[in-house]
Amino acid sequence: QHCFTKSPDGFLYCEDTKVQDVMEKVEKRPFYLYSKPQITRNVEAYKEALEGLKNSIIGYAIKANNNFKILQHLRMLGCGAVLVSGNELKLALCAGFDPTKCIFNGNGKILEDLVLAAQEGVFVNVDSEFDLENIVAAARIAGRKVNVLLRINPDVDPQVHPYVATGNKNSKFGIRNEKLQWFLDAVKAHPNELKLVGAHCHLGSTITKVDIFRDAAVLMVNYIDEIRAQGFEVDYLNIGGGLGIDYYHSGAVLPTPRDLIDTVRELVHSRNLNLIIEPGRSLIANTCCFVNRVTGVKTNGTKNFVVIDGSMAELIRPSLYDAYQHIELVSPAPPAAEVSTFDVVGPVCESADFLGKERELPTPAKGTGLVVHDAGAYCMSMASTYNLKMRPPEYWVEEDGSVTKIRHGETFEDHMRFFEGL
Ligand code: LLP
Repeated sequence: QHCFTKSPDGFLYCEDTKVQDVMEKVEKRPFYLYSKPQITRNVEAYKEALEGLKNSIIGYAIKANNNFKILQHLRMLGCGAVLVSGNELKLALCAGFDPTKCIFNGNGKILEDLVLAAQEGVFVNVDSEFDLENIVAAARIAGRKVNVLLRINPDVDPQVHPYVATGNKNSKFGIRNEKLQWFLDAVKAHPNELKLVGAHCHLGSTITKVDIFRDAAVLMVNYIDEIRAQGFEVDYLNIGGGLGIDYYHSGAVLPTPRDLIDTVRELVHSRNLNLIIEPGRSLIANTCCFVNRVTGVKTNGTKNFVVIDGSMAELIRPSLYDAYQHIELVSPAPPAAEVSTFDVVGPVCESADFLGKERELPTPAKGTGLVVHDAGAYCMSMASTYNLKMRPPEYWVEEDGSVTKIRHGETFEDHMRFFEGL
C-alpha cells in the first residue's frame, strides 16, 4: 500500500486526502506534504524484517529528514538515530531518542561534539587516527568510557552516483583494513577511555542490489572474527544504510527491507551478533511529495518549459546529482490539453535550476498543482534560501485524514532577524 495514488478521475491523493484540497487550504507557496501512516508502515516493514534478530537497532539517519515532529514519531515507533553533528545529537535528545540506540558517525567529528556524545553515552564510530585521539580526549573530559565501533572501509563498489558512494577504498570515510591492527592496538592502549563493541561500514546510498550488502557483510564478519581473535568482546555489526527506492515509478521490483535483512541474517546469526542498520531514504523518501503551482509555460528554441514556484533551493537533488524524481500534476488535464515534453524548472537564476528534464506532461494551465514525488529524504534537509526562496512549510496527513502543519515555512522576517542588533 502506498500513500500517493491517482484516482480514476485523475486527482492525486495522499492516503484519502485530495492534494488539491490541501493546496486550497494552506498558504500559497510550495510545501512538503507527508503521509504519517506511510512513515509508520515503512518502520513496520523494517521491524518485521528484523524479527528473530535479537537486540537489533534501526538507527534512522537524521540527515535524511530532520523534521522534529517526524523524529518524535520515529522515536515513538522504536527507532534509534544516526547522527553526524553535535546539533543532530542535540535534536535527537530533544526528540527523546534513547541514547543507547544512537550512533555518532562522521569523518570530521569535533571535540566539543564528541564530549556531548561521551556524556550522553551514545555509540561512536571511529573514522581515523585523529578521530580516535579526539574520542579518547572526549572520554577523559566527560569522565566516561565511550562505546566505539570501528568504521571499516570495505572497498565494495555500491554502483551508485560517485557523490553518494562512501565505501570505496579512495573515499574519505572509514579505516582501510591495512590499518586495522593499528586501531586495535590503540583501543587496547586506552582501556579507561574506549570499549570496542563492534564494527561498522556504510557503502553508499541509493543501492538497488542486495548482493552488494551481502558482499560487504561477508567481509565485515571476517573482520569481526579477526577482532575477536585478539580478545575483544565485540557484539555489534553495523551495516550502515543505503537501500534505494523506486524513484522512477517504473514498477521495477526493487529489494525491500526484508530482502536486505534476509541477505545478512545467517551471517549475523552465525557470529551471534546484534545487527545495527542505518536507513534514511528507505524509511522516509516515499512518504512525501513536494507540492508546487505552475507559474506558466514557455518555449525557447526546441525546448518547452513548465515554470513552477518551487526550485532547486527547496529541492536540490536533480541539480546536484542529476537525480530523477517522478513528477505529475495533481489534477486531471482538460481533454483538449496537448501532451508535450517539458523541462520542469523553477524561478531561480541558474540553468541548473530544474526539478525534472524531458517529462511528458499535458500542458498545464497556470496555477495547476504539480508534485515532485519521493521528496521525503534529502530534500527539505538539503534546502537552502538561495535567491531568498525561503524554506517551505511542511504538512502531514494524519491517520484520521486531517492535515497538520509540522513545520512553519520560513519568512522574510525570519531572514532579517539574523541582522538584528548588528
Ligand atoms: N549511514 C551513514 C554513515 C551515511 O553516511 C548515510 C548517508 C546513511 C547511513 C543513510 O543512508 P540512506 O539509507 O539514506 O541511503 N544527499 C544524498 C544522499 C547522501 C547520503 C549520505 N549518507 C541524496 O540526496 O541522494
